[in-house]
Amino acid sequence: MSVAIIGTGHSRFGARKDVNVPELAWEAIKPAMQSANVDQKEIDFMVVGTAGLWSSEAAVPPLLYEYGMFEDVGSMRVEAACATGNAAIRVGYTAIESGEAEVVLVVGLEKMQESPNPTVIELIGRFGSYFWEFENFGLTFPGYYALHATAYMAKYGATEEDFAKVAVKNHFYGAKNPNAQFRREITLEQAVNSPYVAWPFKLFDCSPITDGSAAVVLASEEKVKEWGVEEKIWILGQGVGTGTANLSRRDSFTSLKSASYAAEVAYRKAGIDMGAPYRQIDGANVHDCFTAAEIIAYEDLRFAKRGEGVELIREEQTYIGGRIPVNVDGGLKSKGHPIGATGVSQAVEAFKQLLSRAENGRQVDVRNGRYLAHNVGGTGHYTYVTIYGLEKR
Ligand code: COA
Repeated sequence: MSVAIIGTGHSRFGARKDVNVPELAWEAIKPAMQSANVDQKEIDFMVVGTAGLWSSEAAVPPLLYEYGMFEDVGSMRVEAACATGNAAIRVGYTAIESGEAEVVLVVGLEKMQESPNPTVIELIGRFGSYFWEFENFGLTFPGYYALHATAYMAKYGATEEDFAKVAVKNHFYGAKNPNAQFRREITLEQAVNSPYVAWPFKLFDCSPITDGSAAVVLASEEKVKEWGVEEKIWILGQGVGTGTANLSRRDSFTSLKSASYAAEVAYRKAGIDMGAPYRQIDGANVHDCFTAAEIIAYEDLRFAKRGEGVELIREEQTYIGGRIPVNVDGGLKSKGHPIGATGVSQAVEAFKQLLSRAENGRQVDVRNGRYLAHNVGGTGHYTYVTIYGLEKR
């Protein structure tokens, strides 16, 4: 059974001290239900993706149920580290595919700024391997991804300046996105001269700590037909991969095994040629939690051969007009990374792009009618790859 996204909503990302948890969620839920033309009684099931370790509220689905005046609806909270948002979409998607539900509201939400940054950074560190790596070595996420970045530099000759080019691109597009946390362009000089966080990463190589929400309404093919829904995109295929908790158990630091596997499964399900998938996909949102992670994602997703991902950014092939535009909403780097909201925000962006509604000159050419989302939890502890399309398979 095919599953469509029939409505979307997105809050402004940033430091949202002006709203509490349900108010922030409602900024996405309300426009999602309005654009889908559904109200509370038509929702069969509500999935809430939130990691929430740093936040005041733990029982988020009942909170949203009460705040949104829902009735007779099942609900579930989902967590998969930074891939929480796309994992929430998977729960909604499979609920409809299996015939358990017809209309599902998926909400991704995070209010990270409710705790001080050092606490949040420590808590994100728990998404690695707490016993072996956090407690013994104090590793947190900038350090984790720095290990991958230095391995990539050593193997393929990438430089700090190459990584900075990813930040320049993502800020270039984030400046055009009204919902982005950082709506300003940056120069290469600013990026390479920003203070070190964990070598080779500097401030501008890192995604920030963000509050934000995003929501989508999913519907079965039958409902789409019954309601005559015109504005929709379809989930064409999804792949999910898992990696080891402990980094010492991994064969390679220059790729994420869970991501390569998830991409392979998603391409197979969506009927996309694995030799050159970028020829059949118009654009992608990839998990650029740190700049080097975007380059590794190019390779895990087969946009470039191993070791050649860095060439894509050097040659500006991931800008609009290049081989495959990537993160033209600003990505995690500039749009922000409210952990549970990120994967849902990627779906909202796919909807916008495929229906040719991207604002301020950041619309990609959607001649193939397909868009990809790549959402990584931990350092590849989980990866979700989802392919969205204008036409169902
Ligand atoms: N990019 C650009 N500017 C940033 C930024 C980022 N990622 N993070 C913060 N800033 C800016 C702030 O706007 C602020 O600017 P101002 O002084 O002009 O207001 C300044 O830098 C200091 O901000 P602050 O929030 O105090 O930064 P911090 O030093 O406490 O934290 C990081 C910065 C990079 C260490 C933190 O954002 C971080 O750990 N990011 C990674 C989060 C993460 O691991 N997510 C999961 C990934 S899988």
